[in-house]
Amino acid sequence: MNIPLVDLKAQYDSIKDEIDNAIQKVIESGQFILGPEVKAFEEEAAAYLGVGYAIGVASGTDALQLALLACGIKPGDEVITTPFTFIATAEAITRCGATPVFVDIDPKTYNIAPQKLQEFLEKKSSRQSPITNHQSLVKPYALLTLHR
Ligand SMILES: Cc1ncc(COP(=O)(O)O)c(C=O)c1O
Repeated sequence: MNIPLVDLKAQYDSIKDEIDNAIQKVIESGQFILGPEVKAFEEEAAAYLGVGYAIGVASGTDALQLALLACGIKPGDEVITTPFTFIATAEAITRCGATPVFVDIDPKTYNIAPQKLQEFLEKKSSRQSPITNHQSLVKPYALLTLHR
């Protein structure tokens, strides 16, 4: 039995008419960059997510990179991430000039294990002088989020 990792055809079939109509509208408008369809998508995504704004980008990798840049990640920074992901996660970090640092996951949730993250940060801060210490620690809200 062949079980595909991702069944895009099944996803497409479930919303085929909606996708075909949207693509047809873009082709007919001739606006392949931004345009009314992207604007409508951004407004619908923002409403769905309950946020003020959403921005359409070309790929998931671009979205990750822009989010990192918006957080102020710059060359020379280290970004803690999960090893249980697609390569784009680390790629987006390196595209900002930063270095991905992997902290292992919790085998039950598959997310970064809060305990391992805490141990990593404690080990790291004990190796650094108090002056540089604050620069390398994650913001407290990121840790709090992980503990939820
Ligand atoms: C977890 C994860 N992040 C990012 C990406 C990158 O998305 P894209 O291929 O649109 O750049 C993927 C793609 O499969 C992904 O699985």
